[in-house]
Amino acid sequence: MVSIIVAVAKNGVIGDKNSLLWHISEDLRFFKQTTSGHPVIMGRKTYESLGRPLPNRTNVVISRTATAIEGCTVAHSLEEAVAMFPHDEEIFIIGGAQIYALALDIADRIYITRVEHEYEGDTSFPTWDESQWHLVHSERHECGEKYPYPFAFEVYQRAK
Ligand SMILES: NC(=O)c1ccc[n+]([C@@H]2O[C@H](COP(=O)([O-])OP(=O)(O)OC[C@H]3O[C@@H](n4cnc5c(N)ncnc54)[C@H](OP(=O)(O)O)[C@@H]3O)[C@@H](O)[C@H]2O)c1
Repeated sequence: MVSIIVAVAKNGVIGDKNSLLWHISEDLRFFKQTTSGHPVIMGRKTYESLGRPLPNRTNVVISRTATAIEGCTVAHSLEEAVAMFPHDEEIFIIGGAQIYALALDIADRIYITRVEHEYEGDTSFPTWDESQWHLVHSERHECGEKYPYPFAFEVYQRAK
């Protein structure tokens, strides 16, 4: 099963200058808990922004040009990356925008953290047709421990 996991600002922005724009500890914990033990697939730029492979996860980096990245497996297409794992394993597409755009066609589930604040950034989550997806879980927080704005953890399943 292919899952997308993303945190999106109210205006669709997900990043700027190859980094994240907010720090929400609850979201980082959610990301770690949800993806740990599962393969993660990311674009080469997202890998550069992380700067290292994520621990306790098989890291696959998609690139047209890179041939080897220490601690990661390199794939040259999303299809090649997804084909590395059995169908019944939940694999997570962790960004960025270019890879989400490819993955929206094949994903079964989307874990989206809706950050209820607008940010200026150069990278946005691609437009997606929400009518093709069912909201199956939603958990809203008025603010975080150290984050002043509301955010919500939502899970969508592709409508059959
Ligand atoms: N808010 C969130 O949840 C979240 C999550 C992840 C990332 N982000 C943000 O998103 C931004 C990065 O996103 P991005 O869209 O710029 O980059 P990206 O999707 O992470 O990586 C783009 C790279 O992936 C490779 N690629 C793209 N399409 C390909 C294809 N069809 N076949 C093979 N390789 C392909 C290319 O690598 P090569 O150039 O090496 O060929 C391309 O330069 C950063 O700001 C990051 O912080 C936000």
